[in-house]
Amino acid sequence: MNQIDSDNLPRHIAIIMDGNGRWAKKHMVGRIRGHKKGAQAVRATVRACRKLGIEYLTLFAFSVENWNRPEQEVKALMSLLDQYLTDQTKELKKQGIKLKTIGELKLLNSSIREKIRKAKEATKNNNKMIVNMALSYGGRDEIVHAVKKIAQKVKNNEIDSRQIDKEMLSMHLYTAGMPEPDLLIRTSGEYRLSNFLLWQLAYTELYFTNTLWPDFTKEDLLKAIASYQKRERRYGLTSEQITK
Ligand code: IPE
Ligand code: IPE
Ligand code: MG
Repeated sequence: MNQIDSDNLPRHIAIIMDGNGRWAKKHMVGRIRGHKKGAQAVRATVRACRKLGIEYLTLFAFSVENWNRPEQEVKALMSLLDQYLTDQTKELKKQGIKLKTIGELKLLNSSIREKIRKAKEATKNNNKMIVNMALSYGGRDEIVHAVKKIAQKVKNNEIDSRQIDKEMLSMHLYTAGMPEPDLLIRTSGEYRLSNFLLWQLAYTELYFTNTLWPDFTKEDLLKAIASYQKRERRYGLTSEQITK
């Protein structure tokens, strides 16, 4: 903790929470048990980020590609999500956290959608931190979705195609209005983005750890932040330009 500079915290941390299945295998239990343990790590990480004063935490909980997993596993993941929403809404409220989501929510079943709606409603006035859950999320789908919305506006003569620029595209993504992630963490030793926040990660600092998501603790989070704080974000400039 004393290695962390509280004046240089990432405003927005995004996490690809990976390795639940391998954790289960390692402990010789079923994959679902791995996901359950993973859900506990979510609760602990949200608490730790809130305490540290992180403004935005985006968690990759379920990808559009994950729909293609075995039916039993998808069912179990949905039921864990349901449980999380049921027992964490109060907790989020207590901690002053606002819940947001990104992704194709219409693919979720209506009872979960209703719970998400209620959790958002219950936490909408909170301003200590935003927890942004990526559910049924795919980065390419998100960009296609944004392009379609813009095309429709052009067709309706609401905008002229010459007005289309990076800012406009950003404003039509699910993450509209949120700052881009400063730090992306991926657990479980995989070095890929798996279709996560493709547009938004353009200048994000990437951090990979071998820790499996169910084993991820506050110490792992602090290590990632400490690594982030040692880096120089140059955005294409020279080091001299940044430090002068
Ligand atoms: C991440 O753990 C959770 C989800 C993708 C829903 P995995 O289930 O992908 O775990 P591994 O990659 O099989 O170990
Ligand atoms: C990415 O993990 C999705 C989530 C963490 C929710 P995956 O386990 O689905 O990614 P791949 O298949 O290894 O790329
Ligand atoms: Mg995985």
